[in-house]
Amino acid sequence: MSTIITQEIADTENSFKQDVLKGLSSDPKHLDSKYFYDAQGDKLFQQIMTSPEYYLTDSEMEIFSSRCREMLSLVKRFQEGFDLIELGAGDALKSTELLRCLSNAHIDFRYFPIDISANIIQMLERELPQKIPGIRIEGIDAEYFAGLKLASQRSTRPRLVLFLGGNIGNMPPDVAGQFLLKLRQHLHTGDMALIGFDLKKNPWTIFRAYNDADGLTKEFNLNLLRRINRELGANFDAEQFEHYESYDPASGACNSYLISLCNQHVDLCGQQITFEENEYIFMETSHKYTPVQIDKLADQSGFQTIRHLFDRKQWFTDVIWESI
Ligand code: AVI
Repeated sequence: MSTIITQEIADTENSFKQDVLKGLSSDPKHLDSKYFYDAQGDKLFQQIMTSPEYYLTDSEMEIFSSRCREMLSLVKRFQEGFDLIELGAGDALKSTELLRCLSNAHIDFRYFPIDISANIIQMLERELPQKIPGIRIEGIDAEYFAGLKLASQRSTRPRLVLFLGGNIGNMPPDVAGQFLLKLRQHLHTGDMALIGFDLKKNPWTIFRAYNDADGLTKEFNLNLLRRINRELGANFDAEQFEHYESYDPASGACNSYLISLCNQHVDLCGQQITFEENEYIFMETSHKYTPVQIDKLADQSGFQTIRHLFDRKQWFTDVIWESI
């Protein structure tokens, strides 16, 4: 049995327009990387994930395909069953490993994938029961915390919240800290979280992952300008912008920018946005951490670190935290 809970999201189109207008009228100009993911952006991200340079997916996949037993042993404490809630589930490729493992071990659980994309949720509702017969799935099409609230209203069982893929890295560290505090406030003592963090490593390895030879990351960034043209009727000439990536091994900030190649202006919703040659738009941060910094984040947000699950190269960690 499956149910889709559809969250009325307050005028998504309007907030896209407002966020874009605000970001491009600011100094420095910026756009929110959550808007990378329209249909075209989803496709590009799928391609990035299979590119030779982008190690994050393989590293985390290795953890999920080899360490599910350990994850299983940790949820066995939930003797009366539990709810598995995934924030930003996407195609749930990694979590499917865990779902299969839980199902094979006859653990009593329900899976609440939360994703902003209704398409993704419908796809999971359709396909997961074919892969894992008998799975109880209740997809939630909403933003993270609205979805978490909805999931909590539907159950009083203990929860394990998954936040995978290094998505936490797309927030600057102070925002990540606030996000984790808020996550803790939505949980009860004893609930658990399993969070994927990308780790600091050789700077070139990181730099290349976001500056791939085939230019997929470049297109991923430029696609947001094209999306603004498509959806908001703007007239960006994407050829007049280039992608610039930087990685700072000291702070762990890996940042994406689009640089204007000339003095130009763009018409956007009745406004004219002016760019000087070499002016940048800040597009995305993908922050990298050390295990010690991650443990500190746990302490500061009301969690206790139970375990780090590293891949063989120690490039990525899935941390298991308990709410205290
Ligand atoms: C979704 N997120 C974890 C990706 C990352 O690695 O920051 C998004 C991405 N941006 C460029 N390549 C991948």
